[in-house]
Amino acid sequence: MPLVTTTEMFKKAYDGGYAIGAFNVNNMEIVQGITEAAAEESAPLILQVSAGARKYAKHVYLIKLVEAALEDTHLPIALHLDHGPDFETCKSCIDGGFSSVMIDGSSLPFADNIAETKKVVEYAHAHGVVVEGELGQLAGVEDDVNVEHHSYTDPGQVQEFVEKTGVDSLAIAIGTSHGAYKFKPGQKPQLRFDILEEIKVRLPGFPIVLHGASSVIPELVEKINKYGGNMPDAIGIPEDMLRQAAQGAVCKINIDSDLRLAMTASLREHMALNPADFDPRQYLKPARAAIKDMVQRKITNVLGCSGKA
Ligand code: G3H
Ligand code: 13P
Ligand code: ZN
Repeated sequence: MPLVTTTEMFKKAYDGGYAIGAFNVNNMEIVQGITEAAAEESAPLILQVSAGARKYAKHVYLIKLVEAALEDTHLPIALHLDHGPDFETCKSCIDGGFSSVMIDGSSLPFADNIAETKKVVEYAHAHGVVVEGELGQLAGVEDDVNVEHHSYTDPGQVQEFVEKTGVDSLAIAIGTSHGAYKFKPGQKPQLRFDILEEIKVRLPGFPIVLHGASSVIPELVEKINKYGGNMPDAIGIPEDMLRQAAQGAVCKINIDSDLRLAMTASLREHMALNPADFDPRQYLKPARAAIKDMVQRKITNVLGCSGKA
């Protein structure tokens, strides 16, 4: 089965009150762990690649890994560029076989974001590729950029943005954030569901995307700290809040940090308990299984997309 775009996936997800998981991939074990879980759950899937991942693993290796996953699982899989920083990067992924790209113009002034996004949409649509845009800015750490405060999406801007750019989906800021430290210690986790609802009214039927949606499971953080890690005060978005968003207009939920934490906890535990091991297969096998468990947990607790492939 060839790669699919997200068009059909999002339509079904919107109407069915569930969301598709968009998981970041950087190497073979991560691709395998994610796709094994999705195959077992018969869940539609978005594999996404950041500019950093392309730099780390090289475009061609990631494409070939995803091609192998398609052949192995026969699942509907979209391959998406996460946080495309500019037109050139988006073009390179469109020319290089991706079925979906994000152009992240969220830090630009509104008019410039529209202009940059429209340029990507025109090129992408001419090549059968779909585009995610972003309005509003998440707090948190993303590559080398550390944004201190949320700039919540202004619902008054969403219609104009979608109409003028022609984007296929829209990432919004309602209080999620990138990384493992999403709330300050003692701060009550909360999301602006009022903004999400208003956007749904202004863009009926239109797929909304949530970035920064890892839940930072406390048991995993405890395990990391128990085996020599140092992640004090790591806090994520409660799973029930994400589930609520998935039942509404949110059709795509981005998860990276939870995969990193699952893999790190497994590796730290394995190394601590098996200090003589030096065969990478011995420690990467449980790490891959930990990724699989995490994705299955997301499909069940957050996304609600089991059996929807
Ligand atoms: O939102 C960003 C993703 O977690 C990807 O992170 O740029 O370090 O690959 P990265
Ligand atoms: P997390 O850091 O919460 O996993 O968010 C990932 C993300 O938004 C990727 O684009
Ligand atoms: Zn993101």
